[in-house]
Amino acid sequence: MPLPKSVTVVEVGARDGLQNEKTVVDAADKIAYVDLLSRTGLRWIEATSFVSPKAIPQLADAEEVFAGIRKAPGVRYPVLVPNLKGYERAKACGADAIAVFTAASQAFTKRNINMSVEESIETFAEVVRRAKSDGMWVRGYVSTAFGSPFGDAVTPQMVRDVCVQLTELGCDQLSVGDTIGVGVPTQVDEIVPLLVRDIPLDRLAFHFHDTRGTALANVYAALQHGVAVFDASSGGLGGCPYAPGATGNVGTEDILYMLQGMGIETGVDLALVRAASRFIRGVIDHDLTSKAFQALEAAEARVATS
Ligand code: HMG
Ligand code: MG
Repeated sequence: MPLPKSVTVVEVGARDGLQNEKTVVDAADKIAYVDLLSRTGLRWIEATSFVSPKAIPQLADAEEVFAGIRKAPGVRYPVLVPNLKGYERAKACGADAIAVFTAASQAFTKRNINMSVEESIETFAEVVRRAKSDGMWVRGYVSTAFGSPFGDAVTPQMVRDVCVQLTELGCDQLSVGDTIGVGVPTQVDEIVPLLVRDIPLDRLAFHFHDTRGTALANVYAALQHGVAVFDASSGGLGGCPYAPGATGNVGTEDILYMLQGMGIETGVDLALVRAASRFIRGVIDHDLTSKAFQALEAAEARVATS
């Protein structure tokens, strides 16, 4: 199959990234970060999560953040919703795109959202029904698709079954997640053909964490199967507090650098993403892991001092 001519990058730094920071970032800084990302050409920017503040204290300010961001024309700002309470909060703020989230692994689902996979599908049936009748766009996440942090077996067939159930509920898009960054390209080669038997290819997104350095290889494998939507996190932030050992998502700079070099359109300005990453690095006060971010910053510093 020919590689896609253009790819949509879904920016998850403000959600997946900031949910996993030790320090709680001020709402004003979160807003400034999303506003910088809004100027980059990204058309999908996950803004925050309307989850229990006890589960994720880092995003307890979801209302303030969502209300405060300047919504750029043509940009969608999906938010995570774990249940009806989260849905009502998101709707009250004017969200028009939500993401529900479950997983292939039972053990992870229990720890992450205190439900079995089956209970999560029941919960999301009503959430998605309401969201669709309110005219919202809905994404369904399927985490731990490449392996569970708790050692329970996850098979491609289990991933497929959860994806099909979320599609039947009415999800517009599925994001298949390697939550703990254990996946390798041959797994992608196995999973994508299985999924596209039942789910249109253009409804599939992949969400690779880069914990073991395989994220870009997995992106490339998925591109070869025609997948054209990838989640990424500016600077390589990210991780899930309920997935021990999980580190950041594939860096937005890394995926943009690779796609640009391959001649694949994204519509996103890499330099402007770096500016957003630089801003958030100053707030969280630690280095960012994206290799392209580091290399481009170093190159710029060399030019500045020469
Ligand atoms: P629970 O304790 O079973 O829920 O948690 P509950 O219904 O019994 O409620 C407990 C308390 O939370 C109650 O408050 C509720 O009102 C409150 P209390 O009476 O004790 O004061 N509550 C809420 N408050 C605000 N907003 C809500 C909400 N719901 C309940 N929406 C629950 C179940 C699902 C709520 C909890 O486990 C939760 O919020 N989990 C979210 C965990 C999370 O956000 N994880 C990270 C995102 S997933 C991820 O990162 C993976 C991904 O990136 C893809 C990948 O990498 O693979 C997406
Ligand atoms: Mg994630």
